[in-house]
Amino acid sequence: MNVGIIGAGTMGSGIAQVASTAGCTVKLFDLNQSALDKAKAALEKILTRLIEKGRVDADEKTRIQSNISYVNTLKELSDSNVTIEAIVENIEVKKNVFIELERYVSEDCIIASNTSSLSIASIAASLQKPERCVGIHFFNPAPLMKLVEVVPAIQTSKEVLEKAKQTLLDWKKVVAVAKDTPGFIVNRVARPFYGESLRIYEEGIADFATIDYSLKTIGKFRMGPFELMDFIGNDVNYTVTETVFTAFYFDPRYKPSFTQKRFAEAGYLGRKSGKGFYDYSEGALNAEP
Ligand code: NAI
Repeated sequence: MNVGIIGAGTMGSGIAQVASTAGCTVKLFDLNQSALDKAKAALEKILTRLIEKGRVDADEKTRIQSNISYVNTLKELSDSNVTIEAIVENIEVKKNVFIELERYVSEDCIIASNTSSLSIASIAASLQKPERCVGIHFFNPAPLMKLVEVVPAIQTSKEVLEKAKQTLLDWKKVVAVAKDTPGFIVNRVARPFYGESLRIYEEGIADFATIDYSLKTIGKFRMGPFELMDFIGNDVNYTVTETVFTAFYFDPRYKPSFTQKRFAEAGYLGRKSGKGFYDYSEGALNAEP
């Protein structure tokens, strides 16, 4: 199967690894050459670590790497059977990419979006063949997280839904089908989790390290809410909350936080920028920024 992935950031590079590990031929596209270089270097590092842990051998590493080509133009995705978009969470930017993509791919190519919160129906509406569009929502990090939400729009054909589900099962994922509603299942439940944690911090009830520690201890979560926001990226996480809040007609349960907005504006994005709620620079003792 030929898989085209649009956007070589956190999610796109992870999804490329999942598909190539499953034996697909993958083309990973990004407008930004440095994102492609970073994705390639990150995969090398991950696979080297997996060899050290005895999870893959050298032949498998070579196979996974050679299954992926890194491309600079959308046109190069023309032979894809499935495309998965993982670019910036902005409906207009996504729509423009889909309109262009549809010019190149074959009639029966599935066009999927990894959006966390945008309406699949509105993305599908930008296509000549909206019935080929479906949400395929991976979690971060895509190679490790088993669950994938599959989200049919009202326009999605049954055949496309079934093909998307089967593809993910072939990629050894667990599928949850959810209706096309803001945040689907997991991100909807997660909004009040982040939001209430941010409000506790803003009200001075506890610092974020104490909130993280408390929830990890009691709930057996691997990461606390602030560690998780830093991991996801405060820019991405804030945008998802804002989108869900707006889409639910400003329901206060999903109200975004000024603290997180300012962090995103300041470039305190989390791990990817070296600083968020915690400090990830070398030698840092996780001091508050
Ligand atoms: P990211 O910021 O790490 O990567 C986005 C990539 O898209 C960048 O490399 C950028 O150069 C590229 N890009 C932007 N516009 C483009 C265009 N017009 N054409 C080609 N490439 C373009 O973002 P991330 O975190 O990977 O998120 C991508 C999508 O996945 C978003 O829709 C997000 O909501 C969703 N998502 C994110 C998760 C996360 O934990 N970060 C989890 C699940 C979904």
